[in-house]
Amino acid sequence: MIRLGVNIDHVATLRNARGEAYPDPLKAAELVLQHGVDGITAHLREDRRHIRDEDIEKLRGLSAPLNFEMAATEEMTNIACRVKPHACCVVPERREELTTEGGLDVVGLKDKIKPFITRLSAAGIRVSLFIDPEPEAIKMAAELGAPVIELHTGAYALGKPGELERLQRAALIAAEYGLELHAGHGLNYENVEPITQLPGLVELNIGHFLISEAVFVGLAASVRRMKDLLS
Ligand code: PXP
Repeated sequence: MIRLGVNIDHVATLRNARGEAYPDPLKAAELVLQHGVDGITAHLREDRRHIRDEDIEKLRGLSAPLNFEMAATEEMTNIACRVKPHACCVVPERREELTTEGGLDVVGLKDKIKPFITRLSAAGIRVSLFIDPEPEAIKMAAELGAPVIELHTGAYALGKPGELERLQRAALIAAEYGLELHAGHGLNYENVEPITQLPGLVELNIGHFLISEAVFVGLAASVRRMKDLLS
């Protein structure tokens, strides 16, 4: 059974848009966990545009695994080593991007990333590297001592020709190096099935679509309740 991690960043995006205390990402996390989700993923960005430090503290209090997405920086590594989430997924981060647009350049940044992986691992945190399905990147992830890779499925989700095959080849290479395989980005009901067939896939992390879809699944119930109150 493939594990599902739900990325709850965009519950926080909605909360922050009004500067209110709701919708509360912790409440969203508790809800999805009651419905069979295996773990919570949250990205504490440098600019704190959605998840904030106090959210991470609260999410860490849940009994379910917390997958803490972070840039390879001193600040984030310090936070991770203090909070001690179950796992850290190291992602690239640019302030001006709307979302994590590509995988981490593990080959080019290996000397920068290595000390962070070492520190996180020494703190007992399972480190995963969010990378494009590139053989060189997978090899480097193994060399850097990360036990897990998460393959960026964004280009596949956008329908780029050849991407599924690239992901399939990458999955086989990950298995050769003994890496645990995760995947995510841009997945939805329509495109997830072929990804579930990736050899050795253990976990998917899905966020934006699930939070967006929840508006439509939940809006009927929320207006019905308000109409009941009005009558
Ligand atoms: N995995 C990682 C490492 C991510 O950075 C993201 C997006 O922030 C996701 C999974 C989920 O992507 P999406 O929100 O498109 O489902």
